[in-house]
Amino acid sequence: MVAVALMLRRYNARVRPSYRAARTRLGDLSALITDRLAGVRVVQGFAREAQEEARVSALGRDLYAAGVQAVTIRNRTFPLVRFVSNFGNVLMLGGGVWLITQGQFTLGGLLAYRGYGRYFFGPIDDLVNINDLLQRAEASGRRIFQVLDASETVQERPGARALPTPVRGEIVFEDVTFGYDPARPVLRGLTLRVAAGERVALLGASGAGKSTLIGLLTRTYDPQGGRVTLDGLDVRDLTLASLRRAAAVMQQDTFLFHDTVLENVRYARPEASAQEVQAALEVAGAAEFVAALPQGLETMVGERGVRLSGGQRQRLAIARVLLAQPAALLLDEPTSAVDAESEALIVAALSRLMRGRTALIVTHRLSLARVADRVAVLEGGRIVEEGPPDVLRARGGRYAALEQAATLEAADD
Ligand SMILES: Nc1ncnc2c1ncn2[C@@H]1O[C@H](COP(=O)(O)OP(=O)(O)O)[C@@H](O)[C@H]1O
Ligand SMILES: [Mg+2]
Repeated sequence: MVAVALMLRRYNARVRPSYRAARTRLGDLSALITDRLAGVRVVQGFAREAQEEARVSALGRDLYAAGVQAVTIRNRTFPLVRFVSNFGNVLMLGGGVWLITQGQFTLGGLLAYRGYGRYFFGPIDDLVNINDLLQRAEASGRRIFQVLDASETVQERPGARALPTPVRGEIVFEDVTFGYDPARPVLRGLTLRVAAGERVALLGASGAGKSTLIGLLTRTYDPQGGRVTLDGLDVRDLTLASLRRAAAVMQQDTFLFHDTVLENVRYARPEASAQEVQAALEVAGAAEFVAALPQGLETMVGERGVRLSGGQRQRLAIARVLLAQPAALLLDEPTSAVDAESEALIVAALSRLMRGRTALIVTHRLSLARVADRVAVLEGGRIVEEGPPDVLRARGGRYAALEQAATLEAADD
């Protein structure tokens, strides 16, 4: 037993890195396949199938090699362990026969002893096998706990309270400073107020920090300086659930789940009836195309909604937000992924969606900026220009320049 225990200890120390390596390789392979399948149109579009196949093969070979290494260690050790544990049997029989010849033991006694011996060594064999299972489970468990133990960037404060209802939807960014790397701030002392029920369009160059600003309100990140308030309360003092129910974000790349139109639309409020979903689809301007789908509301949209056009996906997303009934809407370039024709439909649907709600609209499109009560221009981490569209147009600043560029573009067409 002592010999077996020592051998297993040595075995565990040697096999553990192999099992861990095999798990890591398996993770690499799954990650690559998931990523490349999701982007299969890009792969095909640039005729990169052969190269992708080679990468999958290479990772597959790595996984195979790590697996073979673990099995090799096991198959070198296990016969030896068995040999040693069975050697005990040989010793017992040899010693027993010698004792019988010396007249100190009986044959019946020896046979009985052997029977008990089997009871004893059987469980040890099992332990050896279980030990190996445990080593493999340890390798998998480590990776699972790496994910479970990852700390959240943003956590709810102990004693956080729910946002009092009814939510008015007043949003204030107060002297906000934030950088993904604190040494290189994206927003530098930015102040912006959106009154309850007001619609403010946020304009700014790509990379100016518009999406970042939205993330600070819904607490994807917390600012390093200043504060963000909703209805006068610091968002860091609110429960995440009540905050995110009150302020809904609509992204430019809408995510639809591999499910039916119905389930995708009522995702935020699963108890909504089919009638309510239908009403939301009407307002979102989506009722017509949904009715034309093969199974109507019960049509599967495909993974990430691949069976729908960009404009259709966006209108389903609008219906989804409508059902959630948030007090404040954060629209992050909601029309950038759609063509000019759907844009008009979506702008109309968004105007209906924003009725009676506070809205912060990030957009490049002036068609959407014009529906806003006020326009703010973000540059260098601050709001550099702010006011109603016609006032800004008359002032001849950055907004006026954007309008002029848009008019020229339209004239070119
Ligand atoms: N998750 C992130 N990690 C690090 N840097 C980021 C991240 N997201 C955005 N950035 C950087 O922050 C800046 C602002 O990005 P973003 O708010 O997305 O701009 P916008 O929406 O105005 O185009 C950019 O320089 C971008 O590279
Ligand atoms: Mg953005």
